[in-house]
Amino acid sequence: MSGQPPVETAEAPREATTDEGPRGSRVMSGIQPTGAIHIGNYFGAIQNWARLQDEYECFYSIVDLHAVTVPYEPGELPSAVEELAISLLAAGLDPDRCRLFVQSEIPEIPELAWILTTIAPLGNLQRMTQFKDKAGEESESVNAGLLMYPVLQAADILILKADRVPVGEDQVQHLELSRVLARRFNNAFGETFPEPRPLLTRSRRVIGLDGRSKMSKSKGNHVGLLDPPETIRERMKTAFTDPQRKRREDPGRPWVCNVFSLHHLFSDEGTIARVDRECRAAEIGCFEDKMLLAENMIEYLAPMRERADELRARPGRIREILAAGRDAASELARETMNEVRERIGLWQANRPDTA
Ligand code: TYM
Repeated sequence: MSGQPPVETAEAPREATTDEGPRGSRVMSGIQPTGAIHIGNYFGAIQNWARLQDEYECFYSIVDLHAVTVPYEPGELPSAVEELAISLLAAGLDPDRCRLFVQSEIPEIPELAWILTTIAPLGNLQRMTQFKDKAGEESESVNAGLLMYPVLQAADILILKADRVPVGEDQVQHLELSRVLARRFNNAFGETFPEPRPLLTRSRRVIGLDGRSKMSKSKGNHVGLLDPPETIRERMKTAFTDPQRKRREDPGRPWVCNVFSLHHLFSDEGTIARVDRECRAAEIGCFEDKMLLAENMIEYLAPMRERADELRARPGRIREILAAGRDAASELARETMNEVRERIGLWQANRPDTA
């Protein structure tokens, strides 16, 4: 694959522009309904989704067709979608300033994905880190959906002709494929798609409570965005700190401690400076530090939990929001597919007779 894509930080969206500037730009991103949203999702992507609503036309998708590439419980998928919509709205998405929709409600997405598979280089797909991780040693028996996963993701973005995609660092490689596919399509059939760029936050890769790997639902090293206070305290007890600090009286090394990094997301500057000093001087123990962080997390997340409770009490409202999002996305998707069908020469029964 050709080098790294241009990456932008969305903290300063006004500077992060193409020639056109924010106006005329469209933002799109997606998240899988595979369990409760965690603080890695939030600080890596969702916080940016909320920020960008003021600057751009934004479309956000709950990608249920991606979620069915791994084993799942069909009876639980609809409620997982609904609960994810609630979490996203609680985390700051505003249905008046963005469109939130469910991917499988837009049949043009898998339709475009099929067309994109015909120009997708197989080698690139096989080299995708996430595919290799998920396929493990079993790449022969793994389902083909896992291999095609990034092509479906490209279709999510290209169907809306979005040019900016706020994601965490783990999605940058997938976005590079979207750029390759847009370029290949444009070269073969004429200028159709903008090349989407990733927008990253400062916390583009939040490390899990194990202190080693990316925070993720599947690794169980996460703190849920809507976890109740007791769960947060229990989870924080399991968090790894500086592995060299064995006893309370050993001086700690905050610069290698993941709990200290997490303080930067939840604690104020004064607390961060104090923990830094007291940890180096062995004046604060790891357990005490973790409990301090837990309390700051609980306080930070409390307004989101409250909003989620309010939303849960109004399921009709969630359905309305998702239907409005679907209608808006659907309109754009139909336009794009008409153009794509025309460009690639598919038969159109209603086409005016030009002979
Ligand atoms: P998903 O559902 O795994 O994650 C949703 C978003 O959260 C980010 N993220 C993280 N960021 C920082 N640190 C972490 N520990 C962390 N864990 C997750 C992810 O980077 C992502 O931005 N393939 C995508 C979903 C998708 C999509 C799209 C994204 C489908 N179509 C179109 C953008 C555009 C995924 O599985 O995300």
